Amino acid sequence: MHRRLACVFLILPLGACQGWQSALDTHGPAASALEALFWTFLSVLGFVWVLTMGAVALSLRRRRPEGEDPLVTNPRRESRMGWTISGAVALTVVTVLTLTGLSYASQKHLFEKRDDVLTIKVTGHQWWWQVDYEDSQADKRFTTANEIHIPVGEPVLLKLESSDVIHSFWVPSLTGKMDLIPGRQNTLQIQADREGSYRGQCAEFCGWQHAHMGMLIVARPKAEFDGWRDNQIRDATAPQTDERKRGEQIFFSKPCVMCHQVRGTSAGGKVAPDLTHVGSRQYIAAGTLPTTRGNIAAWIVDPQSIKPGAQMPVIKIEPDELDPLVSYLEGLK
Ligand code: CUA
Repeated sequence: MHRRLACVFLILPLGACQGWQSALDTHGPAASALEALFWTFLSVLGFVWVLTMGAVALSLRRRRPEGEDPLVTNPRRESRMGWTISGAVALTVVTVLTLTGLSYASQKHLFEKRDDVLTIKVTGHQWWWQVDYEDSQADKRFTTANEIHIPVGEPVLLKLESSDVIHSFWVPSLTGKMDLIPGRQNTLQIQADREGSYRGQCAEFCGWQHAHMGMLIVARPKAEFDGWRDNQIRDATAPQTDERKRGEQIFFSKPCVMCHQVRGTSAGGKVAPDLTHVGSRQYIAAGTLPTTRGNIAAWIVDPQSIKPGAQMPVIKIEPDELDPLVSYLEGLK
């Protein structure tokens, strides 16, 4: 039993080595620099740990001669000097590596200021992410939520703000953490060197649903990214089917429009996620549920059972109104 338990504890941490949200499976320059630092630390400190444990084991095996005072330490000066110097050397190596690694990651990748890169403002809310794509041309700016698309292989500048409490932006596979602090703007540069989807997570405790404040970074080739952006810039598409048309009427008869925005319609709320293209996103409720009909329905009927404390109130909906409403939202692609 004990052995099995020990195995579980040894294997569990290894589960975090791979996947779309792992600081040890990196696909961006800043995260790779941090990963290299981690492995160097692990090797140096692991070596020191093995040496220390060896010394402890040796000292336990050694028989104390009759009459020796156990409280008197090894009187040999050379031995003590040796341990002190190796400790100092190990600490110096680790310190120099940390400073070099951090300065490389920060100057080259985290805080490099460039005007010619894609710039996205990310605002933290309890408990979701507002994502505003900036552009010098007003008709190219748009807002979305919880899902950030970027072109692969290019640096992207993020401007990080908060509307309420301190949050922290963290996509382990691409970059280190950066706080979103009310009243100020932090910047962070990210880059994905490989096409794919990377999961991010708020990394600063920000209240009850902190754990359910996830996001998705989707890195695609430039042409695909441009296609996605062109679609996001467009206003919401008008419902094509009768059921969706009915869903739209229901949506506008409920308080949904007080908080949510659907561009191209009269729904102009700005305190909740923009729903203009919600059907095109892979997840709803900030990375909590995959976007399926069942999940959209569950979220509308009882959001508090999924994210207790979330700002989304329970809205009174008749049983025959749910299907059309879900169809309308699903159709917003
Ligand atoms: Cu936002 Cu934790």
